[in-house]
Amino acid sequence: MYDVIVIGAGPGGYLAAERISAEGKKILLIEKEHIGGVCLNEGCIPTKTLLYSAKLYDGALHGDKYGISARDITIDHSAVIDRKDKVVKTLVGGVSMALKSKKVEVIMGDAQIKEKKDGKIQVEVNGEIKESTSLIIATGSDSVKPPIPGVKEGLESGFVLTNKEILSLKEAPKKLVVIGGGVIGLEMASYFNSIGCEVTVVEMMGKIAGPTDITISESLKKEYEKKGVKFYLESKVTKVDDKFIYFEKNGEENKVEADKVLLSIGRRANINGIGLENLNVYTERGCIKVDEKQQTNIANVYAVGDCVGGVMLAHTAYREAEVAVNNILGKKDRMQYNAVPSVIYTNPEIASVGESEQSAKEYGLDIIVKQLPMQYSGRYVAENEGGSGIIKIIVDKKWNTLIGVHMMGNYSSEIILAAATMVESNMNIEEIKKVVFPHPSVGEIIREAIFSI
Ligand code: NAI
Repeated sequence: MYDVIVIGAGPGGYLAAERISAEGKKILLIEKEHIGGVCLNEGCIPTKTLLYSAKLYDGALHGDKYGISARDITIDHSAVIDRKDKVVKTLVGGVSMALKSKKVEVIMGDAQIKEKKDGKIQVEVNGEIKESTSLIIATGSDSVKPPIPGVKEGLESGFVLTNKEILSLKEAPKKLVVIGGGVIGLEMASYFNSIGCEVTVVEMMGKIAGPTDITISESLKKEYEKKGVKFYLESKVTKVDDKFIYFEKNGEENKVEADKVLLSIGRRANINGIGLENLNVYTERGCIKVDEKQQTNIANVYAVGDCVGGVMLAHTAYREAEVAVNNILGKKDRMQYNAVPSVIYTNPEIASVGESEQSAKEYGLDIIVKQLPMQYSGRYVAENEGGSGIIKIIVDKKWNTLIGVHMMGNYSSEIILAAATMVESNMNIEEIKKVVFPHPSVGEIIREAIFSI
């Protein structure tokens, strides 16, 4: 008998297991594929490893802007993939060690929720029934594979790849077509463009980067057009054969040739085949329905991470896991999504938190919008020759609080934390003005934007 069983060892699951175990509870973590989940094995970490190599290569190629000349610079894609494998192995090993040191029992196997009887939740794994008082479901998500003619065959033949397979390609394609200009699509477009592939992005909507503020999204598109990436917006893929991707734009049929295709049109929660129906756990639009404590409609059954939908990010899963754990431990805690930062690790990076200009207007908020070039930061100018970074801030006029920050330019991925803290704590503009920023830092751009109001 366990206090808690956790299904799924991705960021949400392993963090929940560690935190619960640290409180002296008896815990079982069940994982069917690999410790670390998508984030560590085929998502956040491996992509950042590739993108860092691409960034170094890019820097070396364009070193002349900084007075550096080098000859015969090459990038070895297969060596980059080998290093990625090494990094993943190290980090997965780290998580496994942490689980061991915190005395979390781990079983590798496919978990099936069976029933809840006399307050005990039963889960079957590898033919054995395990029982617990509480359950945390953290089964993650998988890439959406649409019923577009030719996609299924392409996935089988290896012509069409998802985020999983593309990270193990030993040979870079000459021509890559990316279906879906969202987070995965743009990060992979960025990497393959940097290493010299011809990259085309076909996106169904009128803009790239999903809900990102339109100014940032358009600026990023321009940056990548300058680097040679071709974008087809408002373009719906209709068919894939073994050489071409066919799409409809403005009522006309177009096609683009590819050696490989990346399918990155979103992710779907993993909720099937885990026995949710045995407990009658409610789902909504393909995701597990939870309240702000991360509890499902069944007492003591919680769900966290991508399987609950919404903001499918590893850092959201971490926080949701903490909320679930705190509630299991009897501590009051609730999940809030108003200040979850989001980052796309292109080069330049883009990052945002809070409301965009569009979303604030949709809510009918009276807002002040300020936009500045990153050139207002001395360090940005020193380190980004010819860079066209921007910051855009959204302020709620009624309360004089910062409600949204959107940036394009390097280090945005790190700076956004400061902005998220300000948005999360409802800091008003006068309070932010008193914050001392290190100088010179790119982060000072927040201060500049605030003082420009
Ligand atoms: P996404 O939702 O970010 O983007 C999918 C894009 O595909 C959208 O722009 C959508 O309009 C487009 N699309 C949908 N159907 C299409 C079609 N038939 N033809 C053309 N375009 C189509 O999904 P993505 O990129 O697959 O990422 C999945 C998840 O992984 C996201 O939730 C994301 O937050 C997460 N992720 C986060 C990262 C980060 O935080 N840096 C990195 C990688 C992934």
